[in-house]
Amino acid sequence: MKNRVPDILKGNKFGIEEIATLLKAEGEDRTILFGESARIKHEHSGNKVYYRGLIEFSNICDKNCYYCGIRRDNKNVERYNLTNKEILDAALYAFENNYGSIVLQSGELSNSRFTSRITSLLTEIKKLSDGKLGITISLGEQTEDVYREWFDAGAHRYLLRIEASNPALYAKLHPDDELHNYHRRLECLNLLQKIGYQTGTGVMIGLPFQTYEDLAGDLLFMKNFDIDMVGMGPYIEHANTPLIEYKSELLPIEARFDLSLKMIAVLRVLMKDINIAASTALQAIDPMGREKAVKIGANVIMPNITPGIYRDSYNLYENKPRTIDADDDCKECLEARLKMVDAEPGYGEWGDAEHYFKRRQK
Ligand code: 5AD
Ligand code: SF4
Repeated sequence: MKNRVPDILKGNKFGIEEIATLLKAEGEDRTILFGESARIKHEHSGNKVYYRGLIEFSNICDKNCYYCGIRRDNKNVERYNLTNKEILDAALYAFENNYGSIVLQSGELSNSRFTSRITSLLTEIKKLSDGKLGITISLGEQTEDVYREWFDAGAHRYLLRIEASNPALYAKLHPDDELHNYHRRLECLNLLQKIGYQTGTGVMIGLPFQTYEDLAGDLLFMKNFDIDMVGMGPYIEHANTPLIEYKSELLPIEARFDLSLKMIAVLRVLMKDINIAASTALQAIDPMGREKAVKIGANVIMPNITPGIYRDSYNLYENKPRTIDADDDCKECLEARLKMVDAEPGYGEWGDAEHYFKRRQK
């Protein structure tokens, strides 16, 4: 039979059809896929997992994505915005605990008060860590000047998920206006690469209307874009969003989880030297979700270091790990869980993707 999983993995043709077949692997084929992705990961980054202490510093957002719980029109969210001191304290915590890097993330705003605040925070964080703490930012679509200003202030990695690389699917997930334009998003990814950021993207998996071919296209998009890092995870419905209307059409949550693992595994086969994050959404479905992803190909974890009192309010989706479970991310807890999958934290390292340096030499 043509197109069997072992044959595809042995070959070097990864088109939409082959990738879709891999994403549908079950039983023994699934085990073979996961075995291969785990092998490749080990060959390239051993059993190290790099940490990015995640600071979700504000849930205020100007945008209205149909899937997201903190979208502008959701009036049932208590909005928060950490003080600079709270943010710097969290960064210091990451530095003192040898996390190596942090991620600054928030809802999307582009006013100049916001953008200059970020610039000074970046400068302060570099100062408090003597330049040693790596900084990834995930602050949405901005102008080229703003991206440059933040890069010059010390951010060296940027995450901007394309969310869905098929423009027709993208259009079903976002309002049709200037703020939610697929081409503008692509342009931003291009700018980030041009400026010199290690550039990350990602998608949601198990969205309404999404097909296996869409997901295969997402993985090819990442490969063709020569992306350095990827963070992708299951779509988890949120009651106070327009997309809840399609709840009955979704795959069961366990299937979305499994499909997310397969997406990570296939991406690892396609892109051996990039950084792949085990997304928080995996943990919302299964307490060992991120570790399961590490086992089959992910090499980055973003422990949540947002001060506990705010965590309940950053609800992009429901069932997000809550304050009571916040200790899941305590240093010893995470270490112990990683040990269960034979992985260990790469303390004190930036953990940059090999791919970035190779790409820059081209
Ligand atoms: N389920 C899963 N992920 C979501 N995100 C937003 N809403 C959801 C949801 N309902 C993701 C988007 C965004 C990232 C910050 O969170 O991919 O880029
Ligand atoms: Fe805002 Fe991001 Fe949520 Fe869209 S996904 S509404 S930009 S926080």
